[in-house]
Amino acid sequence: MYDFAADIADCALAVETALDKFLTAERLSGPGPAADRLVAAMRHGSLNGGKRLRPLLVRQAGAIFGVPASQSLIAGLAVEAVHCYSLIHDDLPAMDDDDLRRGRPTVHKAYDDATAILAGDSLLTHAFGLLASPDCHPDPAIRIALVTELVAGSGAGGMAGGQMRDIEGERGGFSGDDIAIMQAMKTGALIRASVRIGAILGGADARALSALTAYAEAAGRAFQLADDLLDVTATQEAMGKATGKDAAKGKQTLVARIGVDEARQHLAAIINDALSALRTFGPKADGLRATARYFGSREN
Ligand code: IPE
Ligand code: IPE
Ligand code: MG
Ligand code: MG
Ligand code: MG
Repeated sequence: MYDFAADIADCALAVETALDKFLTAERLSGPGPAADRLVAAMRHGSLNGGKRLRPLLVRQAGAIFGVPASQSLIAGLAVEAVHCYSLIHDDLPAMDDDDLRRGRPTVHKAYDDATAILAGDSLLTHAFGLLASPDCHPDPAIRIALVTELVAGSGAGGMAGGQMRDIEGERGGFSGDDIAIMQAMKTGALIRASVRIGAILGGADARALSALTAYAEAAGRAFQLADDLLDVTATQEAMGKATGKDAAKGKQTLVARIGVDEARQHLAAIINDALSALRTFGPKADGLRATARYFGSREN
């Protein structure tokens, strides 16, 4: 019987332990020594907290094809490093201007803006180093496919592009489609990359990859919709970050457009879409199923 609580806890512990090992001055140094302040800010922005859902998706997608959790871990860390960088930059005064993240001061509050920008840059760069390492996968062709996937998920056509749209949306005037595109990019793209990276690690064929992509796109939509709902309905204490800020900043969200009740119904429907996309996979996809359900019920 698949046990979601055990899976998410085990994955979070593995991610925490591995990030702690990788994010040291010794490991991060190149032609020159990594600055202590930079390493400390990278650690602040990535250790001690975070649900580690993207590495979980990598390993759950990999598990369908028999990839052991120890092998999915490095690729999962790469996605998590990009995610942590995206949060550090998302919180900067020039973006969402937030002081609290994962129950602690944001990186720019604990350090300063310049250090936060550089910590984000360094985590992003480190992610590609992880994917390029033979520890990630012995076959260089697979490693290149993983890099290509993370590029698609994080760049101008993915997360960073979605963040640009999010900022542009503060001026107002977004249609429902504009909101959907922005959400699919700023949050969906990295979730999509996580699932596809797990599948590619497992040598998924085109058909399986396409079904898993459909799952991931629905899960990504659900994830951001839940985040936007929680911004309205949850407390700062539960979330470890300020809530009630989207309306204050004029963020274009589906919740603002259709209201909490309708947004909740919509969330349930998208989660059903995610589950339907998995129908050909059998019990090996129980992990991905449980995560999709969790996206609809999470309280932080
Ligand atoms: C928060 O992501 C930012 C969004 C993409 C909505 P998570 O809710 O996964 O944040 P952590 O990593 O658990 O803190
Ligand atoms: C964050 O969206 C998306 C990314 C960081 C890419 P939000 O701005 O809604 O995330 P929170 O609410 O600050 O975590
Ligand atoms: Mg934001
Ligand atoms: Mg934000
Ligand atoms: Mg939010």
